[in-house]
Amino acid sequence: MIRNSTDADFAAILEIVNDGAQRYKGVIPADRWHEPYMPAEELKKEIAAGVAFSVAEQDGRVVGVMGIQDKGDVTLVRHAYVATSAQRGGIGTKLLRHLEGLTHKPVLIGTWAAATWAIDFYVRNGFTVVSRAEKERLLRKYWSIPARQVETSVVLADARWQAQATA
Ligand SMILES: CC(C)(COP(=O)(O)OP(=O)(O)OC[C@H]1O[C@@H](n2cnc3c(N)ncnc32)[C@H](O)[C@@H]1OP(=O)(O)O)[C@@H](O)C(=O)NCCC(=O)NCCS
Repeated sequence: MIRNSTDADFAAILEIVNDGAQRYKGVIPADRWHEPYMPAEELKKEIAAGVAFSVAEQDGRVVGVMGIQDKGDVTLVRHAYVATSAQRGGIGTKLLRHLEGLTHKPVLIGTWAAATWAIDFYVRNGFTVVSRAEKERLLRKYWSIPARQVETSVVLADARWQAQATA
């Protein structure tokens, strides 16, 4: 079952983010890895900044989380994580479909260039990796991340964004 999160889901969201993020260990640049990957304070700040999470539940337990953040002319997908034990079972796809149903705006996603599995996941779901120049422009415009992370990230865009960019 997929549903929008409530305040009561905070601890479960934090747990799933930090469990799912274990996949990054040894893969993303070592200077960007830290544990926990997302401290509670950072998650609070993200929610305060407008990241609205949806959660996937199985047998009454949260097993996946994914957020959207409205940025005016676009919507960002932020913090997509499925519990390690539940990955590759279709939960991420269901969460993404749910989020896409919550917005009519073009959707952008940023992830680690080294997270090839995540890039595959989004490409399978209709997203396209944007050019390097476009990535740099988009990350500076819509995200607040350090310069080093711009270098080591990619941005993927949905069909709506692509159509608008080529119009
Ligand atoms: C990326 C993620 C959210 C996708 O959710 P999911 O429920 O595992 O994905 P689905 O089962 O809906 O889709 C599976 C497809 O995603 C890709 N994929 C997901 N995990 C993968 C893995 N470990 N290795 C290779 N491909 C993977 C594949 O294309 C896969 O299709 P396949 O199983 O037929 O090869 C989840 O795997 C995850 O939390 N990963 C670790 C954290 C992460 O990378 N988050 C993305 C942040 S932007």
